[in-house]
Amino acid sequence: MKLTKEEQAFLNGEKGPTMKKILQSVIDYGEIFGADSLVDITNNGHFVISMGVSLFTPFYLMLDEIIESGLKTKGNFTVDPFPVDHANVKSNLLQKVIFKVLYKAQPKLDDCYSRLGIKDKNAYSCTCYLPEVGNIPKRGDILAWSESSAVVFANSVIGARCNRNSGGIDILMNIIGKTPVFDLITDEGRKAKWLIQLETTTKPNPQLLGSAIGLKVMEDVPYIVGLDKYLGQELNEENKAYLKDMGAASASNGAVGLYHVENLTPEAKELGKKLLIKDYKTYIINEKKKKKVYSSYPNIWKNTNAKPKKCFIGCPHLSLQQLYNWTDSLANEFGKKKIPIETILLAAPDVVAKFKADTNAYSKLITTGAKLSSICPLMYMANPLCKDIPIITNSNKLRTYTTSRFFPDEKLIEILKRGAI
Ligand code: F3S
Repeated sequence: MKLTKEEQAFLNGEKGPTMKKILQSVIDYGEIFGADSLVDITNNGHFVISMGVSLFTPFYLMLDEIIESGLKTKGNFTVDPFPVDHANVKSNLLQKVIFKVLYKAQPKLDDCYSRLGIKDKNAYSCTCYLPEVGNIPKRGDILAWSESSAVVFANSVIGARCNRNSGGIDILMNIIGKTPVFDLITDEGRKAKWLIQLETTTKPNPQLLGSAIGLKVMEDVPYIVGLDKYLGQELNEENKAYLKDMGAASASNGAVGLYHVENLTPEAKELGKKLLIKDYKTYIINEKKKKKVYSSYPNIWKNTNAKPKKCFIGCPHLSLQQLYNWTDSLANEFGKKKIPIETILLAAPDVVAKFKADTNAYSKLITTGAKLSSICPLMYMANPLCKDIPIITNSNKLRTYTTSRFFPDEKLIEILKRGAI
């Protein structure tokens, strides 16, 4: 890798042995992916490791060494959501014990993050880019984020440049303030290998559309044509929320780190079909394909006919507008009656705080019995006890990584009304 004079000096140990190790790790990481240089990061970090899993001992040792060396991230940073919230997401005694053992190192991790430069105590959400949370890159910014749903949003909707990094190296890159130049950081890596032709007769559910795209293109970049027919050409809050959910599904059902939507996302607006490589492939998504994808999702509940016990709405976390929309939908359906299934709406702590400040809306929501939380439902379910709970969700990402069952919003509301599938 070609290094600048400053980078070479770091590598020679002029900033101490820890900085030398950090730079060497970032170089090694870049070289694996064929990078031949580093570039300065120009905005704040977002990290994926938010859960203080006791077994992550080497990770905590690394953080301790960084802190002891007096190093911090260049800017402040945000982190993925917490795994548990006993006040708003029910757990029985045994589950509470499991959480206590599993996440024993949570105070340790939180303490390390506060020393390294976390934004504040509300920094724990995967939707760090929402206005209420405030970790908002600009178009063209170079980032070193992890969390696939945040990376795909930053790349596609904002037009920042970020690879799909993993936990640990994300922190190191934000301490050194540099990231290797490869893949989605480069113009070439941002070109689309797929043209996705949308030929549905109605506006597709974003989580289903993202799933269909991700399952087909896997880690490639898609250029989506025909979605502007339903979304229009303005990146307003509603469209951003749609793209947030579509992107998260494409990033988890496949491994999409960037998509372009014709006439809508910034690079597609500027460059149009010039973003397609010469020999691009075409994939048509129509009603039939959409249904086929939906019906391919397996039911892997322990008891496949069980009544749902919990419903998670908001993975990735809901935007403020989505929270209001769900409040209206639930209040319209249930009024003063309680929802028969434990229902949890998930949003960033800053979004929750803003929503709660609107006491009318908040009381309308809690009258239905729904709860508000800022956890990551995937982390909540990632243990032998919670994985057996029959959980329903409107998140295709949660469906992909857990035993939960996915239903589009309208179907989810019908199930909530019936109290059964
Ligand atoms: Fe966010 Fe956790 Fe879902 S990080 S995208 S709530 S799996």
